[in-house]
Amino acid sequence: MYYGPIMDQPLHQQVNDENFHSQEFKDLLSSLPKERGLAPTYSYQYQGFWYSPLALRGVTNCQKHFHPRENDIFLVTAPKSGTTWLKAILYTLINREAYPPQTPSHPLLSKTPHQLVPFFETLDPSEYDAVCNSSDSRTRIFATHIPVDSLPRFFTDDSTSSNCKIVYLCRDIKDNFVSLFHFANKVNMRPSPISLADAFELFCKGISAVGPIWDQILGYWKESLEKPHKVLFMRYEEMTNEPRFQLRRLAHFLGKPFSLEEENTGVLDQIISLCSFDTMSKLEVNSTGILKHGISNSSFFRNGLVGDGKKYLTADMASRLDQITEEKFHGSGLSF
Ligand code: A3P
Repeated sequence: MYYGPIMDQPLHQQVNDENFHSQEFKDLLSSLPKERGLAPTYSYQYQGFWYSPLALRGVTNCQKHFHPRENDIFLVTAPKSGTTWLKAILYTLINREAYPPQTPSHPLLSKTPHQLVPFFETLDPSEYDAVCNSSDSRTRIFATHIPVDSLPRFFTDDSTSSNCKIVYLCRDIKDNFVSLFHFANKVNMRPSPISLADAFELFCKGISAVGPIWDQILGYWKESLEKPHKVLFMRYEEMTNEPRFQLRRLAHFLGKPFSLEEENTGVLDQIISLCSFDTMSKLEVNSTGILKHGISNSSFFRNGLVGDGKKYLTADMASRLDQITEEKFHGSGLSF
């Protein structure tokens, strides 16, 4: 297996350049449908979804090399759905005994949520076992964008003794698209910027990061209905509107419900406040510096508003997205 000097290269090269990969991986890429990408220069279609070479390498590595532990927690999102936020919340929730949310030495004050809860796609397989981000050493927290049908089966398989849990977070499609458009042009993932109109066409065709986004959402929605003890389906807007209720729901799902004493002493509000956009975006660690793939920490914080997407889209664009969403989710019980 080749892990090479890829991490030292400019981001657009890491994301796009096929030559940084092993021959085996290059052979895979050359066998896949290839299209102009929204964030990367080119996207490749693998098992029904579109990826940059870098992201696809993470998926195939996971499929080949990941060995789960009984209590692993996977946070799955479509990119720009609020992953950073939920990483912070999950980390704080799971570690609240070792690190009470008000402690001045809380790890979230000096490390980014992405350092504390790594993306599968950015990990080298040799790093999987070194992930140790919970005070309960049997639990590891990972984040990923991998669609449910491309995850190794043990994540959702009831026949194994695995107690792995998946927390899935999604967001209004219009807000998601606009957030992705800004992100694609902010980080140096493309050699040149993409226009809103171009990005929109690709997004509608499903050629976006782990797109079609509708199919990724629907996969986890169905899984959450079939296996509610394994998959928790969450929404950005619900987290914004009813954070206490959603936090209780999350804690209960993970087998770490809040005690009466925690409820009475304001632990929920402390977690919500520590992980809020306001607090997180102002921390030095999140407003300066870059992650290992060259993405600036600040690029994960724009404005964190619900409904912001509408400001950037024409009426025609908004109604086209609404129409696709309605058609895709028709009959599923899911709506936005
Ligand atoms: P906007 O671009 O709409 O502001 P991800 O973490 O999946 O990349 O998603 C990024 C989006 O989540 C961005 O949305 C970002 O501003 C928002 N976000 C980041 N941290 C947040 C927080 N603590 N609370 C709410 N939203 C947050």
